[in-house]
Amino acid sequence: MAEKKIIAVVGATGAQGGGLARAILADGTGGFAARALTRKPDSDAAKALRQQGAEVVACDTDDAESVRKAFRGAHGAYCVTNYWEHYSVDRELAQAKHMAAAAKAEGLAHVIWSTLEDTRKWVPLSDNRMPTLFGKYKVPHFDGKGEADGIFKASGAPTTCMLTSFYWDNFVFFGMGPKPGPDGRLAITFPMGGRKLPGIAVEDIGRCAYGVFRRGGEFVGKTVGICGEQLTGAEMAAKMSKALGKEIVHNDVPFDVFRGFGFPGAEDLGNMFQFKHDFNDYYCGARSVAFSRQLNPELLTFDAWLAKFKDRIPVG
Ligand SMILES: NC(=O)c1ccc[n+]([C@@H]2O[C@H](COP(=O)([O-])OP(=O)(O)OC[C@H]3O[C@@H](n4cnc5c(N)ncnc54)[C@H](OP(=O)(O)O)[C@@H]3O)[C@@H](O)[C@H]2O)c1
Repeated sequence: MAEKKIIAVVGATGAQGGGLARAILADGTGGFAARALTRKPDSDAAKALRQQGAEVVACDTDDAESVRKAFRGAHGAYCVTNYWEHYSVDRELAQAKHMAAAAKAEGLAHVIWSTLEDTRKWVPLSDNRMPTLFGKYKVPHFDGKGEADGIFKASGAPTTCMLTSFYWDNFVFFGMGPKPGPDGRLAITFPMGGRKLPGIAVEDIGRCAYGVFRRGGEFVGKTVGICGEQLTGAEMAAKMSKALGKEIVHNDVPFDVFRGFGFPGAEDLGNMFQFKHDFNDYYCGARSVAFSRQLNPELLTFDAWLAKFKDRIPVG
């Protein structure tokens, strides 16, 4: 039997990378093996991956040499950064540089970079429709990832840039579940007007990435965009109401109100929603549901995601 192609998965103990590691492990005859990279090989998440058949390898993307070692001998790598751990674009950029350089130096055949738009291409810093943050960004957690597309390109590593979408899992884990509004009605709160928000079950991001690896070099040098469904806030609220059996509405607050909520990252996220709203045709067009389903036939709709996760959505 031919040797399996190893995919080195950054973030394998987390949401995106975990989905990819599990997709590889679930497909015993697919010809790929999962190498789960983590800073904490003894964590419960790492142990679970090892038990499911992954090779667990220590790696810290802040450390260039550790990434090189972890990528050695692999066919491909899934590269992701976690902005919300440190709120530092500089750190994300340095990590991207380490991963791109390691992929090139170790001769990997295919790298997927989990990315988002550099919104400054649409909203230059001089555009005052939204505040400039940290002196040089509009949507810091987007802009750094988009800027890093250029780092991967310049490195010469054979890269697919994969544009991800809003996780529906944010309703469970990111404090976005329905809460009583000023009128007492339960509401999900985000500023999108009546425009559509592309969303996805986070587990499907990894499954789509697996689909990209399975298609060989077809998407090397290209950008692909994925999502599970594109729905307005009102459509999401209606579906959530049905699933949870209680009325939930969409609270479409103004962008400035959202930016002023005061939690860490509120301004960044307020700007993000405004970008998705103001450039909605581009933003939705860059993420195709049909293409995502080709990559991953198990792709969940929002209704299907709700059926699985409704009991875990904190309400109130
Ligand atoms: N929430 C959304 O709607 C959304 C949508 C699109 C994109 N995103 C982006 O998704 C990213 C986070 O991905 P996620 O949700 O999969 O994260 P997550 O579930 O919070 O997990 C983070 C993962 O990154 C790993 N990691 C972090 N720093 C590392 C380092 N220095 N070296 C090695 N591994 C490191 C962690 O591994 P160990 O701790 O085991 O080392 C963990 O596996 C963010 O940058 C965010 O901007 C989020």
